[in-house]
Amino acid sequence: MTNPADVAPLISALEQNVRRVVLGKSDTVRLVLTGLLAGGHVLLEDVPGVGKTVLAKALARSIDCDFRRVQFTPDLLPSDVLGVSVYDAPSGRFEFKPGPVFTHVLLADEINRATPRTQSALLEAMNERQVSVDRTTHTLPEPFLVVATQNPYEFEGTYPLPESQLDRFLVRVRMGYPSLADEKAILAAQRERHPLDALKPVVTGADVVRMQEAVRAVRMEPPVVDYLLAVVRATRGHKHLTLGASPRASLALSRATQARALLEGRTYVLPDDVKALAVPVLAHRVLGTGAGGDATADERERVVADVLDAVEVPL
Ligand SMILES: Nc1ncnc2c1ncn2[C@@H]1O[C@H](COP(=O)(O)OP(=O)(O)OP(=O)(O)O)[C@@H](O)[C@H]1O
Ligand SMILES: [Mg+2]
Repeated sequence: MTNPADVAPLISALEQNVRRVVLGKSDTVRLVLTGLLAGGHVLLEDVPGVGKTVLAKALARSIDCDFRRVQFTPDLLPSDVLGVSVYDAPSGRFEFKPGPVFTHVLLADEINRATPRTQSALLEAMNERQVSVDRTTHTLPEPFLVVATQNPYEFEGTYPLPESQLDRFLVRVRMGYPSLADEKAILAAQRERHPLDALKPVVTGADVVRMQEAVRAVRMEPPVVDYLLAVVRATRGHKHLTLGASPRASLALSRATQARALLEGRTYVLPDDVKALAVPVLAHRVLGTGAGGDATADERERVVADVLDAVEVPL
């Protein structure tokens, strides 16, 4: 078992490296790192041009590992993501040609532009960390992180991710616009060239696996477990929700809080970690009735925030 203290310098090196390119947005950067350390996947949502792709690329560049980017389009087929079996005439055998999902960091850009079939193929591979083609199973490499981006305000020609599969993402994160000071700094930083071009890796893929092991060693005392479960359970039967968060959600929140604790330099989880992660981990795992039928993402986030206000925090 990796000691949390051993990986702390690597984690801060990773974070600082990403932040050399992504200016401001410290919470967003941390949430993406939380996803990585917890061994989950990240859904980055926002309007165009706020740095989603740059954040994913900066993270991938900071790790000495394979990186692939797939632009999701309506004509993208499941096999374009997963890979295909091709007939090799000389040997008379089928040979598997791995698709771009066989990588360490996969940027699935504009995932909502692909058809549900292709989305499902990726989501299933993310969940199972393996791909089955022609009855042969191929295991994905480790670490394996998918950062998917989508613009939630774009509807024309898009296929919203199925609600029932959104929970394949550990966290859903918004970017948001930069502050004035950060935007000034962004202009200055890119006056000559993009800072991404000069970014060098600071950790290896094996380091990331060690960080993920260290996350599992982060302690969670019984009162914090009780608090976390009280928050999750309060979403069940909530008057504005038709479906509350599942035990899979409790597990996700628990692993994510361990990762956040480590990012904050602690070896134990605090109720604060639960508070900070409840919305990004839980809001996309509940279903609400909302004003006009289906609750919007905003409404679901508000309900989870209300739940946090209502549940008593242990001392
Ligand atoms: N917080 C930020 N820090 C550094 N650069 C930023 C930030 N926000 C935006 N940018 C810059 O804005 C430009 C556009 O960013 P990017 O391509 O990542 O946007 P995007 O969110 O992926 O957009 P799209 O949805 O169109 O793909 C890049 O040059 C990027 O460096
Ligand atoms: Mg982009």
